Amino acid sequence: MDLGIRGETALVVGASYGIGFESAKALACEGARVLIAARSEANLAKAAADIAAASGQAPPAFAADVTREQDVAALAKWAAAEAPSLDMLITAVGGSQRSSFAALTDEDWQRNYDFNVMSAVRLVRAFLPALRKARKPGGGAAGRIVLLGAAAAKMPYPNQIVSNVHKAGLLALTKTLAAELAPDGIRVNLVAPGRTLTPLWINRAADMAKKDGRSPEAVIEEFSHEIPMRRFGRPEETAQAVLFLASHAASYITGQALNVDGGIARGLL
Ligand SMILES: NC(=O)c1ccc[n+]([C@@H]2O[C@H](COP(=O)([O-])OP(=O)(O)OC[C@H]3O[C@@H](n4cnc5c(N)ncnc54)[C@H](OP(=O)(O)O)[C@@H]3O)[C@@H](O)[C@H]2O)c1
Repeated sequence: MDLGIRGETALVVGASYGIGFESAKALACEGARVLIAARSEANLAKAAADIAAASGQAPPAFAADVTREQDVAALAKWAAAEAPSLDMLITAVGGSQRSSFAALTDEDWQRNYDFNVMSAVRLVRAFLPALRKARKPGGGAAGRIVLLGAAAAKMPYPNQIVSNVHKAGLLALTKTLAAELAPDGIRVNLVAPGRTLTPLWINRAADMAKKDGRSPEAVIEEFSHEIPMRRFGRPEETAQAVLFLASHAASYITGQALNVDGGIARGLL
């Protein structure tokens, strides 16, 4: 299938490892010009080298903490110098804090809100002018935004109340933005991963294993049981959904959330 993105420009934020990295690599392998961002310069340098080895192009990289408004502004300035218009924006920054409701402070709620919701809000706002410029001469949707959310938005997990709430907020953001930006030729969709073996879960399993005196593999095995496919997802599997929604193959799809979760979210909607 021709995804139609050869020569187009994509910015992937949270691209130094995990789902964002695999998404950037998949986009680059399809011939898109990819820009990458995350906090750590060292992680970005490794990611850029790995993407260059897989795709033949070394993506320009910028270090920014997108929970900080000034870093998002600096990222937008850098990206504008690299590429005057932007065809695709992928935001892959976020995570969850495992905790009961009672143990969470206002500070926990606010920090997680900045991490999961405001990072996406600020990135979309900063890059809207560049995405608007992507409109093609013949008309039709041109700019595309893909937000990373979570299957938890549709099926709240126990002991993860903060991200259940914030990821549901990202769903509402996606749906509302899609309607507002459609007249500007911009599509907005969300990819909702279930349990996926990235550093996020690998580190979590290691922490849980240490506390419980068992192996990380035993933790992963336990958390696989309630997944109908009986295994965690691989980040490259999630990246295929990102690639599809960011591409012209999804030209009439906007305001949707696509779960990549091995069947864990069992609701009808
Ligand atoms: N893995 C799962 O099981 C799972 C499940 C449901 C939803 N998700 C969602 O999918 C998305 C990606 O998850 P993942 O598992 O790939 O995460 P991950 O393994 O933790 O990777 C996160 C990426 O974002 C960067 N990053 C983290 N904080 C940042 C910040 N403040 N500013 C800029 N970059 C930042 C990291 O690089 P640096 O450390 O160098 O900044 C890294 O490149 C997240 O929204 C997550 O909530 C994941």
